[in-house]
Amino acid sequence: MDPITKKLCKVSQLTEGEGKRFIINGEEVAIFKVGDKIHAVSNICPHQHPAAIYSGFIEEGFVVCPIHGWRFELETGNKDTGRPGLRVFPVEIKEGYIYVTVEEETPHWKW
Ligand code: FES
Repeated sequence: MDPITKKLCKVSQLTEGEGKRFIINGEEVAIFKVGDKIHAVSNICPHQHPAAIYSGFIEEGFVVCPIHGWRFELETGNKDTGRPGLRVFPVEIKEGYIYVTVEEETPHWKW
């Protein structure tokens, strides 16, 4: 799977702190506008794997999963414990539109 950059929507179509859900290259992506920044993270919560992150709420730079309240830093995707949590995707703004790039995930195995 090659990286894909997709034009999603206008920045002006986002509401501060309210997520939107997109599927890019088969990946569930949640985007959020927080202040001047647009963040794109995986929409799949690593806890029980619902596609629910886009409906989470924003608290001090973290998105909070609405199902059981796990918190993920928008900047890094890490959990509030510092451990890995959500994938983070590169975001570009061009002429008021949001572009997000999704690359192939490096496979990792848990034994
Ligand atoms: S499913 Fe997200 S915290 Fe449980």
